[in-house]
Formats: sequence, structure tokens, C-alpha cells
Amino acid sequence: MAVLDASQDRIEVRPSGPLEGSVIIGGAKNSALKLMAACLLVEGTFVIRNVPQIQDVAAMADVLRVMGVSITRDANTLILQRPAVIEPVAPYEFTEKLRASTAVLGPLLASMGHATVALPGGDNFGVRPIDMHVAGLEAIGCRFEFSAGQVQASVDNLVGDHVLLEFPSVGATENIMMAATLAKGSTVIDNAAREPEIADLAGFLNQMGAQVSGAGTSTITVEGTQELYSAEHTVVADRIEAATFLATLGVAGGEIILEGANHDHMAILCRKLEEMGVRTSSDPSGVWAMCQEPLRAVDVSTLPYPGLPTDCKPLLVAMLSVADGVSIVTENLFSERFRYVDDLVRMGADIRTEGHHAVIRGVDKLSGTTVRAPDIRAGAAMVVAGMAAEGVTTVLDVHHIDRGYEDLVGKLSSLGADVRRIRDDRSV
Ligand code: EPU
Repeated sequence: MAVLDASQDRIEVRPSGPLEGSVIIGGAKNSALKLMAACLLVEGTFVIRNVPQIQDVAAMADVLRVMGVSITRDANTLILQRPAVIEPVAPYEFTEKLRASTAVLGPLLASMGHATVALPGGDNFGVRPIDMHVAGLEAIGCRFEFSAGQVQASVDNLVGDHVLLEFPSVGATENIMMAATLAKGSTVIDNAAREPEIADLAGFLNQMGAQVSGAGTSTITVEGTQELYSAEHTVVADRIEAATFLATLGVAGGEIILEGANHDHMAILCRKLEEMGVRTSSDPSGVWAMCQEPLRAVDVSTLPYPGLPTDCKPLLVAMLSVADGVSIVTENLFSERFRYVDDLVRMGADIRTEGHHAVIRGVDKLSGTTVRAPDIRAGAAMVVAGMAAEGVTTVLDVHHIDRGYEDLVGKLSSLGADVRRIRDDRSV
């Protein structure tokens, strides 16, 4: 799982299109990471298929390895061997690379009764607190102490209870669900997050012998069991990777197939795209999509699933920058998730932000320049913008894109996009 130091690599994008052909959509990053964490629950050999070859997975593998789990990869299959004895400590040098490292808390508490996890800190789009994870785990018997940048958690007896989340947090829902699998009695999580990745994790836990029901709805019930076993699982398709190709189709035009993608998991996004001029439908092999007309402006507001995903918003902002008309985009999840807008404006986009709103007046064309990928999704959005820009757009800091996308450049090129990765000589 060694990956080259790509910190100085760059991606060059030139206007291209129409796109044509089909592309395979990989397993969802945000499911794979949690499935890996769930392997901490019990000793044994786990097989997880359809795991994308991305930096965040490598970082999660490092977090688990430092605890004693051995992990090998065969193409997109991960084999994890969780020994009987592990060290339930995740040091900062491992967690700082990955916000999702907090997903180890629930499984470690359930299996070991204690855990020390260094807090990963903020993100480029704002602070990422874990107060809801803590409140939910406290409700089923866990105790927490925060000091010196780390959280020390312990529990004598996990006892199921009613947990009402203040907000349908993805990470909190997952942590509580995982911990509750080995609790005494039943745990009911109300106002739970409903993302397909949560249902995927519940499916994996049930393969392990857990009794989780209702995942994918806002009430999840976990009947605690005394024993779990190792299991095999195939990761659900990455709806955000799929959305990224739909965004490139929107600016470049053409007709593509997203193999393995699930249209139902993108229903509201696809409805918005339809309003903008991108047609999509479910196809026997995944999702079919076509765009043959100029994009139209729409208003967009991010919401927890099944609402419009915050992770798709930068992609939509890039598309709306060249759409016909005025759009209002509202971010309801991460307050500071508009930082990439400055670079879009440098490319000629007409965008004004105020608080968690952006007003976008579509322009005919952007113009290519050098921009940065500030995080995974905004990085991908820069590539989308580059496809709608005259001249060359050079995207720096592509290591952020590598955290969440397996070979974005190769896949786009296979659809006919004029996108190439320029390796930094010092990284090879
Ligand atoms: N929040 C709190 N307290 C908590 C937990 C969350 O205030 O204890 C707040 C967050 O700060 C945020 C909101 O609640 O404002 C939603 O956070 P949530 O817990 O739902 O998100 P997450 O679990 O931290 C996952 C994805 C993100 C995705 C969000 C929302 C993973 C690894 N990450 O994060 O994905 O944006 O859900 O859908 O699953 C990405 O893939 O690039 C990415 C950032």
C-alpha cells in the first residue's frame, strides 16, 4: 500500500469534450474506511473487496497497523488480520492524516474496553468536532477524558440505551452503531444518518453476527450480542466519485456510462442535474448520463442524505460557474466549505459568498490558470472547472485529490478528457 510522495505532482487540464465511453466507479471511500475500522471489533481474518486505491485508505491502514492489525492488498481486495491482542492507541502522526480515524473509537471501546485516540484536528473546510460521537457513546456507558490533544475513552459495561442525535451525523451514527453491537441489550439511535455507507456498514456488521436493523432510515436498532466473527464484504459504489464524472460531463458534454454506480443513491443530485440539462437514468450496468445542451442555473442547498450531499457542492459550484443564469448555493453542513471559490474567481467565475451562501452568475467561459486543490472534493472541482476553461488549468496540491480518488486522471482520459498528471521528478 506504499504510495509515491505525490505532494508536488500537478494535474494539467485543457478544455475537452464531448466525453464518451464508460468508466468503472470504485468502492465508496466513506464506507471502506469505516469497514476497516469495524475489523477492530473481533479477532480474525477479514476480506473487504472493492476497496479503492486511495491515500485515505492507506492512512487508515496505517492507523490499524500501528495497533497490531496486519493488512495486505491484492488489487482492490484488502485482507485484514486482526490478532487477539491489539494496542488500542492511535497516535497523532497517524490520525492527523485522516479525520475518519475517529471511527476506531466505537470498535475499540466495544472490543477492548478502552482506547486512546489523538484528535485529528480541523479540516480545510472547518472544525470537525466529535461531541455527538461522545454524547452517544456516553449514553451506552462510555467515559471520556480529553487532554493533550487526545481523547481517552473507557467503558466497564456497554449497556444499550436510547440515543437521540442532535443532528444526523454520519461519523457519530457509525461509531455508536459499531460500539452497540457488543452492548448488553438494545440500542436505538434516533435521528440517525441515512447515508448508503451507513447501510453498507450495517450489512458488514450483520455478516459478523451483529443484529442491526433500520440502517438507511433515521431509526437504527442494534440488539447487542456477545460474540462477533470475522466476515467478507464488498464495498458499495462511491456515489461521490460517480457525481464527479457527472460534473465533468456537464461542462464537457457527451454521453457516458458509470459502471457499478447506483442511481437510487444519487436521486436528488440527479434531479438537480436534470434541471441543469444533464440527463441520467438507471442502466443495467450502472448509470447512463448524457449532456447535449448548455447548462442552466439552479439553486442548490446541501442537506444530510437523502438531501443533496455537501461533498457534491464544490462540483456543482464549478458547473454553475459556466451555467446560463444566476444560482444561489447554500451550504448547511460545513460552514467554511467555500474556500476554493477564490480560485474559481481567479479563473473568471462570478461568485460572491456571504456566510454559508454563494451567488453564482454564470459566465460563458473560465480561463485556465494555476489553482490549488484545498481538499478532496474542491480539488476535483478544480479539474471540472479546468475542463470548462480556455487554455491550461494547472491544479497543484493533488495529494488532496489522491486522498479520495483512484486514478481520476486516468479515468477521465479514458472518457476523452484532455487531462494529464505531471509527476514531480523528486517524488519518484
Ligand atoms: N458534527 C458536530 N459534532 C459531531 C459530529 C459532527 O458538530 O460530533 C458536525 C460537523 O462538524 C458537520 C456536521 O455535523 O458540520 C456533519 O458531520 P458528519 O458527522 O455527518 O460528517 P463526518 O462523519 O465527519 C462524513 C464524510 C464527509 C462528508 C460528511 C457529510 C467520512 C469519512 N466523511 O464526515 O466526507 O462530507 O460525512 O456527508 O465519512 C469527503 O468524503 O470528502 C468528506 C469530507
